[in-house]
This record gives sequence, C-alpha cells and structure tokens, in this order.
Amino acid sequence: MSTDAPPAPVPVLLDVDTGIDDSLALLYACASPEVDLVAVTCAAGNVDARQVAENTRAVLALAGRPDVEVALGRETPLVRPLVTTPETHGPRGIGYATLPPARTPLSARHGADVIIEEARRRPGALTVVCVAPLTNLAVAVLRDPELPLLVGRLVIMGGSFRSPGNTAPTTEWNATVDPEAAKVVYAAFGAPEVQAQRARRGLPPRPVALGLDVTERAKLVPAHLERLAARAGCTADGTRPDGSVNAIVRYLADAMRFYMEFHGRYDGFYGAFIHDPFALAAAIDPSLVRAVPVPVDVELAGTLTTGETVADWRRAWGRPDTLDVGVEADAEAFFGRFIERVGALAAARG
Ligand code: BDR
Ligand code: CA
Repeated sequence: MSTDAPPAPVPVLLDVDTGIDDSLALLYACASPEVDLVAVTCAAGNVDARQVAENTRAVLALAGRPDVEVALGRETPLVRPLVTTPETHGPRGIGYATLPPARTPLSARHGADVIIEEARRRPGALTVVCVAPLTNLAVAVLRDPELPLLVGRLVIMGGSFRSPGNTAPTTEWNATVDPEAAKVVYAAFGAPEVQAQRARRGLPPRPVALGLDVTERAKLVPAHLERLAARAGCTADGTRPDGSVNAIVRYLADAMRFYMEFHGRYDGFYGAFIHDPFALAAAIDPSLVRAVPVPVDVELAGTLTTGETVADWRRAWGRPDTLDVGVEADAEAFFGRFIERVGALAAARG
C-alpha cells in the first residue's frame, strides 16, 4: 500500500468578471482537489462590478463554497468608461439562469488589496489567475510595485496574439475593456529585471497569457453538457430520475443555452467557447498548453485596433520577451476533466 500523501493544494486567487464562462471557472476551481481557492476578486467587464460580485457569491454558494472570500475591486477601467456585454452573457451575466441572492457579505477589503495581501502572505507561492479585464491587477501593481516578485505564477486569459479578435477585428474582450490595465500589467510583470529576479528565486520568469488562439479550442457543444449531466445522474436540464432538480446542472443548462445562442448568432455554431475554465485548468496543469516567450505590447491609440495585443513574433522591435503566449492547447483533455470534475461536484451537491 502506498503511503504517499496527495500533494498539498496550490493557493489560487481568481480575478473574474462573472460572466457565464467565469462561472464555469469558479465551478471548476471548486471541483478541483489541486486548488485551494483563497479568494476571488471582482472586476467590471461582462457586467458591472457589483453584479459580478453578486454572481460570483451566488455561484460559489451553488458550488457549496460560500465561505470563499469575494472582494469587489475597482468598478471602472483605469482610464476609459466601462463597456459591458449583455448580448454575450445576458442582462445579469448568467444568461437565462437565476440563482438565489447571495447571502454571504462582500469582503471588507478592496480587490486590489486582497491580491497584494494574499501574495505577501505567501511570497512566491500564490497562483493568480485573471479571467477578466486586468483592472484589479493593474491597480494592485501600481499600489505595490514589488507585487511581480511576490506572485508565484500569473496566468492571464486575455488577448489574441495570432488569431482574429472577438470584440473588434483584432481585439479580444478582456484586453479591449481595459487596455491601459493590460499595458501596466504586461510592463510590470514582463520587465527584464523582474524576470531576472524571479528566475533567481526559482519562479517562472514571465506570466502565461492564454488568448483566443488557445481558448477558442475549448469549444463546448451540447453533447458535453449531456455527458456532464449523465455524470451527475440527471438529464441535461437537471432533472433526476425521481423528478427533483440538480441545481448545478440546471444552472449550466440555463446559462449555457444563452451563451450557445449567442455563439450561434455571432460565431456560426451552436455551442460556446469556454475561455475562462480552460485558462484556470491550464493554470493548475500547465501541460494542457504549450506557451512560447514573445515580446508583447498593447495598442492604446489605434484608429481601428485599440486593445490589440501586439506580439512581435519576428522580433522586429528588438525588445525582450514579456509574456509566455499559449500557442497549442489540449482541449480534449480539458473537456474530459471539466466533465468529470464539475459532473462529480454536481452529483455530490445533490
Ligand atoms: C473573455 O471575455 C469575456 O466575455 C469572457 O468571460 C472571457 O473572459 C473572452 O474574450
Ligand atoms: Ca471573464
């Protein structure tokens, strides 16, 4: 008999703009034994930040984790007015789903302070996963310039580096909502002296950026939801054999129906790209993606391209690499895990 104990879970802080696919990332985090979810910070993006905080707490309660600290961050992008996307995620950000109002209070801490304090509490050990506009992380690094040396790993869902955009022809949503924040984060975490110091500390030198190039490989179709529901012991709309309802599966059915209809209208298939849980899964298991270093900057003043994440693949600028950009993804492995884990969580939550 093996006496090996399972590895200790990794402390993870998730920054979200919940959002349908953000809610899937929250469920995946709660369903993953490798994750110690220390806090969730809320940015404005898919919906306004207060609605994000409400959705986030409601989804954590659904997953059986109302104890996780949820903190509101900055409610507007650094410079620009906030733009939200009800056509993508529904008027409240969770599609056609409804959830009981959140009962747990919001954290008394500001989201940016949560990032700083949780990173400082465990130098070099906190994995930060950002699946929203980078406003909160930018505020955090402006408040505490040492932050890039304190975060263990930084994984960012955002940008489109070699593929078309999903917001404007060349721009991805998270980068477009707050391009100034993306620029601040890329510059702070990608600075050559930061990379050198991180390498000396045995930390990955650069953040990992997972843009549409890889997250659009995570293309969920109704058959995936059917498999998940079967794992949970119910039909795809959440009905159990005894007629009762599995709340997680019902939530997924109602939220995803909206998201799939959106993709049917704009992307030509009935299904949905589930960017954010894929990014979280790859943060937990880096073998799900192959990432390569490249210099990246953000367009702030384009006439057609503001928010574009410009990657210098041919090194025309002669600048150092700033990000490890995802170029290949194992979507099949991801879906296998997503279905097994969230299906098992749904079955266990009864
Ligand atoms: C990103 O934009 C948001 O709408 C999604 O939640 C995801 O984080 C994809 O471009
Ligand atoms: Ca998101």
